[in-house]
Amino acid sequence: MIGTLRKTLERGGLVAAAWLVMSMAASGAPAAAAEPLEARDSHVSRYSAADYTASSWAAFSSVRDSLTQRGGDDATAREKLQMAADGLVMVRGLKNLVADYKTRPAGKYTSDSWVPFAKALANADGVAADASATASEVAAAKTALATAAGNLVAADEGTFQTITNDVFWNDTSGNPIYSQGGGVFKFGDTYYWYGVHYTGAELYRTNPTRKYDGDVSFVSIPVYSSKDLVNWKFENRVATRSTSPLANAGWVGRLGVSYNENTGKYVLVVQAYLPSSGGDGVLFLQGDSPTDTFDYAYFQTQVVNSPTTGTGDQTVFTDDDGKDYLIFSNRSGRSRAFVSKLRESDSLRVEPAVQIGYNSAGREGNAMFKLDGKYYHAASDLHGWNTSVTHVIESTSSNIQGSYTGEYTLAGTEMDYSHVTQTGFFVTVKGTKQNTVIYAGDRWADFAWNGIGYNQWMPVTKTGARPQFHSVSQWQFNATTGEWRVGPANNYALNPNFQADRIIVPQVQGWTNFRESGPTSLVTNVDGGANGSRFALRIGATQSYAGGVRQQITVPAGVYRLSAFARTTGSLSAAQVTITDAGGASRTLNIPASSGWTRRELAEIPVSAGTATITIRATSGNGYLFVDDLGLVRTSGDTPPGQRHEAETAPAVCQGTIDANWAGFSGSGFCNGNNAAGAYAQFTVNASAAGPATLGIRFANGASGARAANLVVNGSTVATVSFESTGAWTTWATKTVTVPLNAGGNTIRWDPTTAAGLPNIDYLDLGATAG
Ligand code: GCU
Ligand code: CA
Repeated sequence: MIGTLRKTLERGGLVAAAWLVMSMAASGAPAAAAEPLEARDSHVSRYSAADYTASSWAAFSSVRDSLTQRGGDDATAREKLQMAADGLVMVRGLKNLVADYKTRPAGKYTSDSWVPFAKALANADGVAADASATASEVAAAKTALATAAGNLVAADEGTFQTITNDVFWNDTSGNPIYSQGGGVFKFGDTYYWYGVHYTGAELYRTNPTRKYDGDVSFVSIPVYSSKDLVNWKFENRVATRSTSPLANAGWVGRLGVSYNENTGKYVLVVQAYLPSSGGDGVLFLQGDSPTDTFDYAYFQTQVVNSPTTGTGDQTVFTDDDGKDYLIFSNRSGRSRAFVSKLRESDSLRVEPAVQIGYNSAGREGNAMFKLDGKYYHAASDLHGWNTSVTHVIESTSSNIQGSYTGEYTLAGTEMDYSHVTQTGFFVTVKGTKQNTVIYAGDRWADFAWNGIGYNQWMPVTKTGARPQFHSVSQWQFNATTGEWRVGPANNYALNPNFQADRIIVPQVQGWTNFRESGPTSLVTNVDGGANGSRFALRIGATQSYAGGVRQQITVPAGVYRLSAFARTTGSLSAAQVTITDAGGASRTLNIPASSGWTRRELAEIPVSAGTATITIRATSGNGYLFVDDLGLVRTSGDTPPGQRHEAETAPAVCQGTIDANWAGFSGSGFCNGNNAAGAYAQFTVNASAAGPATLGIRFANGASGARAANLVVNGSTVATVSFESTGAWTTWATKTVTVPLNAGGNTIRWDPTTAAGLPNIDYLDLGATAG
């Protein structure tokens, strides 16, 4: 408010803005006056005495009243009013924050973290009630409260919440979430998600069977809040068409929020095209709390060092030290990647840009994350609304504006163009157990017709030297611990809707063509997929052929369901989808002829862990197979029936006792072998064929030292195994070992070689894989 008024006055808008304040209090009706850009906004009339400290309001209103009585609109009056307005101290945001934080129950947090929080809250409460608090005291109280709230440590372990992609998301009231090109920012203990609501997004959600290219008309910037990053509560529209100067905005998008410690304001930094206010630029809107209705603060058309006005996509990145940066490429050409500081004093300017990357092909969807002390700048191809692999450059020092490596593709984004998205923004979650980065991809489906859902969020972890993107359609996330796991309905097939490519191609992304006979080009994606989707896969020719596509994916062991929508034309001698697991076992879903899209399914497929291959194949003299909406879902995590052997179940032998006193075992107990050399546990397993097989033996060793055993298969010692301490008898681990088996029955004996005997043995899995 103070900034807004000052800004207005500097630009000669005193009469408009200040007299609005006056008339609001005096007559209730805004006065008409010359209208510079900012003054068109009548937001001032939203505020009243309660929004300010009592003494600053009293001082302001006495000046205002004396001027009103004199009917003053001369230069001196304006100056006086300017000074009075500058003296206003807004406490509205602080009051809102205090009221919100008072709802936190002490019992939910560790007392170590609660004590400083309670202190900051009491102090903030005092400042909010202090009639003569200064603007900097208000800002300091807000910062201290948010910092203490951000440091609150949950007393419990949190819960896993499910994130499902490839669907349209709703808020906690069941209303559609329309949020694109935005960002998630953590203020205090709460995540706030800002983004843009476009008209096309509503239309596409209602009827997702066509494009709505032209419909990028800006509706509003909603803000949602969440503690777990999964359940989002609608809070407010921080900006709408009635926010000055957005009434006639040509484009509003790509935004982020900076909390400024000096002003205590939340600054929304938005890419905008404002034809009547200078063209392309960065628009700054300001609010007094994260969910406030924001007001105009500044419009900056040019960032120093950028070759063009405006930005070619941008996000706001907040570093660990609270400093905020604008991450962007230049508007025209978009070949340069820039990092600019937001002005520290008030976050209302983008400071001169520092170039950190260059690619002549152009990059957009620029966003940054930090992991293990390194900065990663990610961007997409210059594909308009379409999907892209994610290009990364990483910092080679701890300086965000220092040097960066050359570009590489973020591992895991190649097979399906980053789960059919364009880079949107990242959220880094610092959990009590691990840090997880969330890649928040935008699927501009309303403009590119690339599938269902606008928001596709996937975890990024670091395995080895580089980050790894996990293209999961469903996962579960614990925002307290930072842990995540694949969700039960995850579709392990990648690019299963054949829509990642954006255009018709002879080689569908994520799938490898193969040909056994016939013409060289058997494969393409085609317009017109199942369920009104845009693309499907087509295999075939008008002559004799055999061939199709394959995809290799990594899967955990389990029982799976394979499904697909399919249709055929002409006559096919074979049409099939086959899954082959790491052990070479395969199962085939045969597709009967059908002229319309029909769902086909094969369930109860045992799949071992490791690299599995999905093969879609057709053979014909003259005909086509169309496939869409492929699904490979793990319906049960258990080892396929018949392959798990409990130590307590005959014909297993336990030279000791079957106990059940240490939790965590499977079945009804475990083998507690006698503490003696030679006191073995034995299993009998059936192998379908002779050859090497992987065994998984589950054990717990609560003793401090490792326990050694011979592994005796069919009477011959094939290995010696050391069962290291698991730290507790209730902590179970699985050891894997590969052994030669005969076709049919085999005895597997674990024969301890020292007086300590075996660890406690829970079960043996046949076909388990390492991990
Ligand atoms: C303890 C423990 C047993 C275990 C044994 C051992 O007695 O309760 O479950 O088998 O130690 O050292 O083998
Ligand atoms: Ca024992």
